[in-house]
Amino acid sequence: MEKKSLLLFFISSLLALLDGSAIAKSTIEPCSTSDSCLALLGYSLYADLKVAEVAALFQVDTVALLAANSIDFSLPDVDNRILPAGLFLRVPIACSCSGGIRRSVSTRYTLRPADTLASVVASVFSGLTSVDQIRDVNGIQDPSALDAGSTLVVPLPCVCFNSTDNFLPAVYLSYVVLKGDSVAAIAARYATTATDIMNVNSMGDPSIHPGDILAIPLPACTSTFQQFANDSGLLVANGSYAITAGHCIQCSCGPGNLNLYCTPSSLAVSCSSMQCGNSNLIIGNFTSQQTNSGCNVTSCDYGGFVNGSIFTSLTTTLQPQCPGGHQLPPVIPPPTTTLHGSYLGPSPSPAEAGGRIPSSSRPQTTQTFPGSSPASGPAGSISEAHFARPWSHMFCMLAISCFFLL
Ligand SMILES: *[C@@H]1O[C@H](CO)[C@@H](O)[C@H](O)[C@H]1NC(C)=O
Ligand SMILES: *[C@@H]1O[C@H](CO)[C@@H](O)[C@H](O)[C@H]1NC(C)=O
Ligand SMILES: *[C@@H]1O[C@H](CO)[C@@H](O)[C@H](O)[C@H]1NC(C)=O
Ligand SMILES: *[C@@H]1O[C@H](CO)[C@@H](O)[C@H](O)[C@H]1NC(C)=O
Ligand SMILES: *[C@@H]1O[C@H](CO)[C@@H](O)[C@H](O)[C@H]1NC(C)=O
Ligand SMILES: *[C@@H]1O[C@H](CO)[C@@H](O)[C@H](O)[C@H]1NC(C)=O
Repeated sequence: MEKKSLLLFFISSLLALLDGSAIAKSTIEPCSTSDSCLALLGYSLYADLKVAEVAALFQVDTVALLAANSIDFSLPDVDNRILPAGLFLRVPIACSCSGGIRRSVSTRYTLRPADTLASVVASVFSGLTSVDQIRDVNGIQDPSALDAGSTLVVPLPCVCFNSTDNFLPAVYLSYVVLKGDSVAAIAARYATTATDIMNVNSMGDPSIHPGDILAIPLPACTSTFQQFANDSGLLVANGSYAITAGHCIQCSCGPGNLNLYCTPSSLAVSCSSMQCGNSNLIIGNFTSQQTNSGCNVTSCDYGGFVNGSIFTSLTTTLQPQCPGGHQLPPVIPPPTTTLHGSYLGPSPSPAEAGGRIPSSSRPQTTQTFPGSSPASGPAGSISEAHFARPWSHMFCMLAISCFFLL
């Protein structure tokens, strides 16, 4: 923890906005190198949106977005499925180092006619950025002079902390605090402790306010791919999936253990050979044989994506017991109501996990969505119910200037 306390600044800044008393805090991670790392954003949909529209908003791959949320990405035409307003998703993003702090600056947003910076911040990006940060990054002097059609860089929170928490692999979720949240409840929801959240965020006391952005460590599986593989930093949160090697390989984490498990993906794409040399095993296969000294396990594992080809590695180990079949994290169909998806995020109780459907029983049919408006574009109206937070609380502070004030 000492390392983190030194690295971390839990900054607060008085906002002279609207009611003049709102304080929004955000955890930032200083950085100096140009290496990038993986993190998650906790995002609540501001309208009914197609999967492809949510992915486009953050400039992430649709399959990567679905995989990170254990939503079945192999369904036909899944990109056009409509996800409901208010659904909470984990958006996987790459964090870079910009202005001395870790953040994602690869997201661009094109202003629509009715947009203001305040509505873009509070609604479209569900409080993950602030007016000040957008103004700062884009050098905007006069926000009222912005034209529809202008493209803005949207800085988003990103922390990695070496992708570890208490020396165990972790991926960090940037979570925007909602009305009614408490550190204890958030900790319970993400199977961590209040103490851990407070340590990670260098908080002196557990008080939080709507609009604060907390870094929540989630247990994860790390890869041990070749150093020169372009997916060598692959990190997958427990209970979820990632897609790699040009959509050829899917990797999952959990639920039984935190060893990354990769198999050929369920997407129909043409891929180079996935068979391990000198064997008839393909990636994800293993054979085991009980011997006098233990169980002789031979497995064919994914070794990373190198120069456009799939690396495999065949390993034989002697284990105390022969392993059973591999259990995969449950996969759900694209949620049609916010309740079904809420096990991933802000949900009142773990009982909502009833929304999980084992992959074996997932519907393969194309569903229609009664009650959801046609997702003709993100220009849809904003749901009042999901917009109830006071706007003043939605503005987090301008990280860079506060960083230098310290
Ligand atoms: C980062 O984590 C790795 C193990 O994943 C560890 O070897 C290394 O010492 C850590 N670096 C820092 C600066 O904590
Ligand atoms: C991973 O998630 C499963 C449930 O999905 C849980 O039972 C298990 O304890 C989790 N593992 C860790 C290390 O958190
Ligand atoms: C190897 O894995 C593939 C798909 O992952 C599976 O269909 C096949 O049955 C496995 N073969 C063996 C021998 O386990
Ligand atoms: C373990 O299995 C491998 C491959 O099947 C074989 O080459 C090796 O000799 C076996 N080792 C033992 C100790 O049985
Ligand atoms: C990848 O390609 C580069 C240049 O094309 C080559 O120098 C390098 O050795 C290749 N790496 C591997 C592991 O094949
Ligand atoms: C790895 O390479 C593939 C194609 O060669 C590319 O599509 C993908 O974005 C790369 N991944 C990373 C993390 O650079």
